[in-house]
Amino acid sequence: MPCAIQASLSDLPDFVIFKIILGKYPMFITFEGIEGAGKSLQISRTHEYIRKKGRSCLITREPGGTDFGRELREVLLRPDGAPREPWCELLLYLADRHQHLKEVIEPALARGEIVLCDRYQDATRAYQGAARGIAPETIEEVSRFLGVIEPAKTILLDLDPEVGLRRARRRNSLDPTAAAEGRFEDEAVSFHARVRQAYLELAEAHPQRIFIIPAADDPDAVFGRIAVLLDQWIYG
Ligand code: TYD
Repeated sequence: MPCAIQASLSDLPDFVIFKIILGKYPMFITFEGIEGAGKSLQISRTHEYIRKKGRSCLITREPGGTDFGRELREVLLRPDGAPREPWCELLLYLADRHQHLKEVIEPALARGEIVLCDRYQDATRAYQGAARGIAPETIEEVSRFLGVIEPAKTILLDLDPEVGLRRARRRNSLDPTAAAEGRFEDEAVSFHARVRQAYLELAEAHPQRIFIIPAADDPDAVFGRIAVLLDQWIYG
């Protein structure tokens, strides 16, 4: 599957290269997975782990990492929102991403920070591409036009969709805020099976970037596996 632009060292300003020499190199890490895979918990544990080790680290998410993005998030995720064409949905996710990159992600990387993002471009490939049926080449072309960069590393929390959906629907029944964002939880298991399959295929195509972590185990065991990767990427 083709990729959007890869951020490289030569694209970075001099002061960032200076920070890299001081050990304050930026790193863009994304977290992906189907509904109910436990991303929110694992991303906040990752944040805490990196901060405790003394690195400046920002946690953010898509959709909704900016003020404008939070307005888009409501429109995108309301279960009772109006029907929309797959292309309209794609363009709204990409609008959220473009604003997020310009306002939050790129400035944080330029300051030499580690950026942890809860969902990003692989979610678009899996949900709007594989599950909604938009051709991957088209997604890559529009994304390239918008200057979408690739993350350095991606943690893919992998889970059986039946288990994930059960967890997510239970969470929505207990938490009205989560329920108000449950548009995708209303989709059939077969939709989420396509999303999972697409994520696994992306991981196979990008083994240096995407790392699969089985997410069915207890959360401490899952984080233990993530910590091993963080130690290699950031402190190795
Ligand atoms: P998220 O807040 O991670 O929901 P959850 O915690 O329930 O997993 O993500 C919101 C939803 O947005 C999620 O169902 C997947 C969807 N999404 C896309 O369809 N395309 C995208 O590009 C992104 C970033 C998210």
